[in-house]
Amino acid sequence: MDSFEWNKIIGAVLGTAIFIFVVKTVAEIVYEPEHPAKPGYVVEGVVEPGAAGGAAAPAEEAMPDWGTVLPAADVADGKSISVRCEQCHDLSKGGPNKIGPNLYNVVDEPRGTGRNGFSFSSAMAAKGGTWTYDELFKFLKSPGSYIPGTKMSFAGLRSEKDRINLIAYLRTNADTPAPIPAPKPKEEPKAEAAPAGGAAPAADAAKAGDAKAGDAKAGADAAKPAEKPADNTAPGKAGH
Ligand code: HEC
Repeated sequence: MDSFEWNKIIGAVLGTAIFIFVVKTVAEIVYEPEHPAKPGYVVEGVVEPGAAGGAAAPAEEAMPDWGTVLPAADVADGKSISVRCEQCHDLSKGGPNKIGPNLYNVVDEPRGTGRNGFSFSSAMAAKGGTWTYDELFKFLKSPGSYIPGTKMSFAGLRSEKDRINLIAYLRTNADTPAPIPAPKPKEEPKAEAAPAGGAAPAADAAKAGDAKAGDAKAGADAAKPAEKPADNTAPGKAGH
């Protein structure tokens, strides 16, 4: 064997070694086994069970005044939002159960039962109660946080307005839409209403016969003495 042969052999060995090294390096770069921060595919509204449970407990959110917000809600917008539910729910009357139960006529219905024998999670069944507007509002914000262990892997609707519009639509998606409660009275007149509500003058006035005039007077009279002591106490306080 002359040195030329040896050169060829060494060259072949080195070449193979370099080839293997390059392939390995490229493979490592291409198939880097690092977990991406986000999954490669995103199914909108679907969360891994762990993520939902891990979400920080949401701060208590004030419930809307349904008597005020429902009549003003955008039902058509709610219907378009409900398309997101249709991944898993059939909303039509007599429609089938899919991944989730049929949702026709769900407002004011018992939770986690019926629905043509849908197999609810024990978490949902155990929660019990009724799907009132409030309950739907809380649940749809973050199903997994509100009912840990639910099979409904839906991230939730952050926006209050979206939830209100959607619930307004769900309400109409029924043979007989659930009743809308009377709007809650405004808070602010309460302070003024208190003296007028003193039932005693009203009773007196009723005796007198002209209830209306009597009422108004009694109210006005009642208000005056209330002001006076207040005036008196003010300087007293200031004197301290
Ligand atoms: C990824 C699938 C999926 C999506 C999307 C989804 N749901 Fe669900 N939903 C479920 C499953 C599964 C259940 C049964 C949950 C259980 O048993 O824990 C359920 C249960 C419910 C229930 C309880 C029904 C009952 O009779 O107790 C309501 C209400 C509900 N979903 C409303 C909605 C609304 C409204 C949307 C759209 C904003 C929605 N869901 C989107 C899968 C889904």
